[in-house]
Amino acid sequence: MRLLLTAVFAAGALAGGVGALATRVAVAETPAAIRKAPVDDLAALKAKFRRPDSVPFPADNPYTEAKRVLGERLFSDTRLSADASISCASCHDRRKGFADGLAHGKGVPGRPLARHTPTLWNLAFASHVFWDGRARSLEEQVAGPISSPDEMAQPVPQAVERLAADPAVAGAFAAAFPAEPNVTPENLAKALATFERTLISPPTRFDRWVDGEARALNARETEGFRLFAGKAGCANCHSGFAFTDSAFHDIGLPDDDRGRGAVLRLPRVEHAFKTPGLRELGRSAPYMHNGSMASLDAVLDHYQHGVVERDTLSSDLQRRLSLSTKERAALVAFLGTLTSADDPLPPTNLVAREAGPTEPAARVSTVTQHDTQFSPKHLALKPGERIWILNNDSRTHNVRVFDPKLNFDSGAQDPGETVEIAFPEAGRFLVFCGIHPKMELYVDIAP
Ligand code: HEC
Ligand code: HEC
Repeated sequence: MRLLLTAVFAAGALAGGVGALATRVAVAETPAAIRKAPVDDLAALKAKFRRPDSVPFPADNPYTEAKRVLGERLFSDTRLSADASISCASCHDRRKGFADGLAHGKGVPGRPLARHTPTLWNLAFASHVFWDGRARSLEEQVAGPISSPDEMAQPVPQAVERLAADPAVAGAFAAAFPAEPNVTPENLAKALATFERTLISPPTRFDRWVDGEARALNARETEGFRLFAGKAGCANCHSGFAFTDSAFHDIGLPDDDRGRGAVLRLPRVEHAFKTPGLRELGRSAPYMHNGSMASLDAVLDHYQHGVVERDTLSSDLQRRLSLSTKERAALVAFLGTLTSADDPLPPTNLVAREAGPTEPAARVSTVTQHDTQFSPKHLALKPGERIWILNNDSRTHNVRVFDPKLNFDSGAQDPGETVEIAFPEAGRFLVFCGIHPKMELYVDIAP
């Protein structure tokens, strides 16, 4: 589904220079220290961080320009707060990486919020949002800040009523939702979510380097990337274009916020939080769900010396990380290349596509999990058939279906364990992992 003109995301071929870098890579790494990433294959590695060529929008809220424009307007509308003092943009300021520059922001009552304000860049590629993933979509998230007594402090119906009283706003809703031309909580959420999905971080020097411009990064920054994807193990979690796996990990921060554990009621994911993306990072300090780290140096101090030992620590976390002063400087230099030079604006010529299965349906009933992926990722079954999902991964998963027709929760599914699911009736069901929600399996049950 091509909605807007040209492809922005350069999917260009890798040009010269890669070979030379690859040679240097092989020399500098100690093979024993490399946990996962095949750093000597730099071209393949770079490709994993390439900008995607399209942005997914859900089938029940497809992209339209009228919705985006309305969403952008609502994002700055202070009528969403009880005393008309703040808008979404008060806490999510583009010039501050869509965060607020504070350890703990403040809403209408002026009390510090329980958690740090996260960035909103590149959430189109996320699934569950909030630090603990308690909202399963951007649409579902919208009611959170409006009605939270610590944030905008206003019941959603009251916000909707205020907006509907303004003929200009009512007209914009009518234009954006011709099939149901009203100011409703659903349409409010759809418009804001559409706008948020277009907040794709602008290209930086790093993207030019990935696309083959070898000189776009200097030697120290290149070295930093190699450390990031190799020895330091950062890319185990900060992976892909947005530098996040959108999964939940305990990285050993010393506080007693239960994070994902409280949401899933799963002891295994106590203290686990969503991996934040690292694009435009240079603008969004302080860092972490509790805003406890003022600088990237403080973040590296944590990964090197600050990790609190406990059973729930993510198995993807590099333990006993040892970095020299030079290596730390290289990592920080590399992270700097993920922030754009100018006041960052999202690209205006996005290519939208419908979210959903990325491969044709297979007619099998056995699925495996490996490296945080289902295989296959799309099944077609007859009514009454069941599926078996075998965890061949080194990680614990939590298989879920959250559907009006079927609410399924496997609990902790450890490596080697199989989960069986019977589907009640015809339709498309999304099976996902509550800990790694980007693991998605679509199951179509024929009528
Ligand atoms: C008073 C400050 C404040 C206001 C106003 C505010 N937010 Fe937030 N926002 C936060 C904080 C803090 C969090 C993290 C809360 C958590 O994870 O528990 C957050 C989280 C989010 C997230 C999840 C991001 C992620 O990476 O998971 C989205 C999306 C979001 N806000 C959008 C909005 C929208 C849309 C509005 C306006 C309707 C809004 N926010 C208003 C402070 C604010
Ligand atoms: C096991 C997965 C994992 C690994 C490995 C990992 N991170 Fe993280 N990272 C996270 C999670 C989860 C958070 C958020 C934690 C929280 O707030 O509780 C985070 C937070 C961050 C932040 C703060 C971002 C923000 O917006 O608040 C930075 C910067 C960061 N990591 C950089 C790194 C670097 C550099 C490395 C390698 C030395 C690394 N990470 C390794 C999962 C990981």
